[in-house]
Amino acid sequence: MARITAGVTTSHVPAIGAAWDHGKDGDDYWRPVFEGYEWTRRWIGEERPDVVVLVYNDHASAFSLELIPTFAIGCAEHFEPADEGFGPRPVPPVIGHPDLAWHMAQSIILDEFDLTIVNKMDVDHGLTIPLSLMFGRPDTWPVRVVPISVNVIQFPPPTGNRCYMLGESIRRAVESYPEDLNVHIWGTGGMSHQLQGKRAGLINREFDEAFLDKLTADPGALRKMPHIEYLREAGSEGIEMVMWLVMRGALGPEAKELHRHYHVPASNTALGHIVLQASA
Ligand code: DHB
Ligand code: FE
Repeated sequence: MARITAGVTTSHVPAIGAAWDHGKDGDDYWRPVFEGYEWTRRWIGEERPDVVVLVYNDHASAFSLELIPTFAIGCAEHFEPADEGFGPRPVPPVIGHPDLAWHMAQSIILDEFDLTIVNKMDVDHGLTIPLSLMFGRPDTWPVRVVPISVNVIQFPPPTGNRCYMLGESIRRAVESYPEDLNVHIWGTGGMSHQLQGKRAGLINREFDEAFLDKLTADPGALRKMPHIEYLREAGSEGIEMVMWLVMRGALGPEAKELHRHYHVPASNTALGHIVLQASA
């Protein structure tokens, strides 16, 4: 039987990818950002997950404003890094797991979550930067990936509660897959950031740290948080954090925090990263 054993969240700031791809990770500005992932790289090297269910948002790279799926699952054999205006990132193609993905689509849709099934899509910084942070610069990624894309760029995004319930459904789907697979679930995006308008550059450390505390110990409180609170406290792009609740919902009621990293600044945003062990 496949098992979800751990959850990881991390911000996915594009400038981190650019710094990494241009070998600037040792620079004074970037070193403290990347140092916070060294523990995780060692840990994941020992954990050796077979598959990552990678919950992220597309930033109008694969989907335009002409077509906006609230929740989508990638069922393809592989996913190419998207060209976001400066050419695709120089990273390997992302290898999918079509058999598990189709099983998940069947289980989750029959569980009354109407996922959009995607058989071809490029994946942008929301998905590839977390892979770089966790695995460094391998010739091929050491895991297969089932991408789950969540709309957080065009209102209305799904509620945190709905995201948490999707996570619970993902757990049921994975745990009914017959092959023995060690599966991790990741949620990307966040933390507080606003990229445009009068409040561009907004950072709210107090809110971010409380969010991280509750993510581990009191996710029930986060499930009830309305969108307006994300916007007010964490800025317009802070809404990306609803995706972290998909991750948390898939871990079961009790989760143990193994590692945390919080750093400001990373470009215009507060960077947050947490590693959680799932309930048995
Ligand atoms: C930026 C873009 C993002 O998607 C994000 O999550 C954080 C920052 C940016 O353009 O700086
Ligand atoms: Fe983003």
